[in-house]
Amino acid sequence: MAIGTVFLVGAGPGDPDLLTLRAARLIGQAAVIVHDGLVEPAVLALARPDALLVDVAKRRAHHTLPQDQISALLVRHALVGQDVVRLKGGDPFIFGRGGEEAEACRAAGVPVQVVPGISSALGAAAAAQIPLTHRDHASIVSFVAGQCKGLAEQDWAGLAGAGRTLVIFMGVKTAPHIADKLMADGLAPDTAVAVIENGARPTMRVLRGLLAGLPDLVEQQGVVSPALIVIGAVTRADDAALVTTALGAAA
Ligand SMILES: C[S@@+](CC[C@H](N)C(=O)[O-])C[C@H]1O[C@@H](n2cnc3c(N)ncnc32)[C@H](O)[C@@H]1O
Repeated sequence: MAIGTVFLVGAGPGDPDLLTLRAARLIGQAAVIVHDGLVEPAVLALARPDALLVDVAKRRAHHTLPQDQISALLVRHALVGQDVVRLKGGDPFIFGRGGEEAEACRAAGVPVQVVPGISSALGAAAAAQIPLTHRDHASIVSFVAGQCKGLAEQDWAGLAGAGRTLVIFMGVKTAPHIADKLMADGLAPDTAVAVIENGARPTMRVLRGLLAGLPDLVEQQGVVSPALIVIGAVTRADDAALVTTALGAAA
């Protein structure tokens, strides 16, 4: 029996219109789709009616299925001849553990292909009209993970400041630590920040403020995951009010 292929597919930030054509085709063909909690129902609706959909939703500090079991699941289906779409929010190789799953497939002799997706960093920034680079404001952009584990050990020095944009994933719960960490690294308390919640989805909110006020902004506005924190002058657009919701903080 021929071995199936595992396709690590990026589902983008939520809107099915932001899938690549290849992702949409593979989702529509796959016998098995293993997806995480960031994949919107509208994207899963593209699956064929008889497809097996497996939700391995990962939430912060609560992994429904441990990573090694997810990898084993992909391999198991492929070894019995099924093509598997492993569907992930955003891009599989940006904080998506796609690298670990590709390694597991290769170790088991299972062919694996990677289909890039629009990372939430790009999709949410576009929807919020925040250019991550801008000739007047930033020529460097960095992506970091803001979750608790290992946050203190991460060296972010130099990633934010004049001429730079820092995009922080998974930072809602740790916003106070993030603000402290950046200011301890020398970043000015009045550095412009934005929080993009549910970016590129119908429920998107874009909140703007200053670094020192980031923890209050997140708490008072009840920001929930998924959300990105963007640090830098690019968040301070002159016409920011156009894309800031009624709940938005000061521009
Ligand atoms: C495990 S990471 C996955 C990132 C994903 N692979 C990507 O490329 O966007 C999950 C984090 O991505 C961010 N995220 C994902 N989708 C988002 C969205 N629609 N709006 C804002 N942030 C999002 C949040 O910071 C969330 O906690």
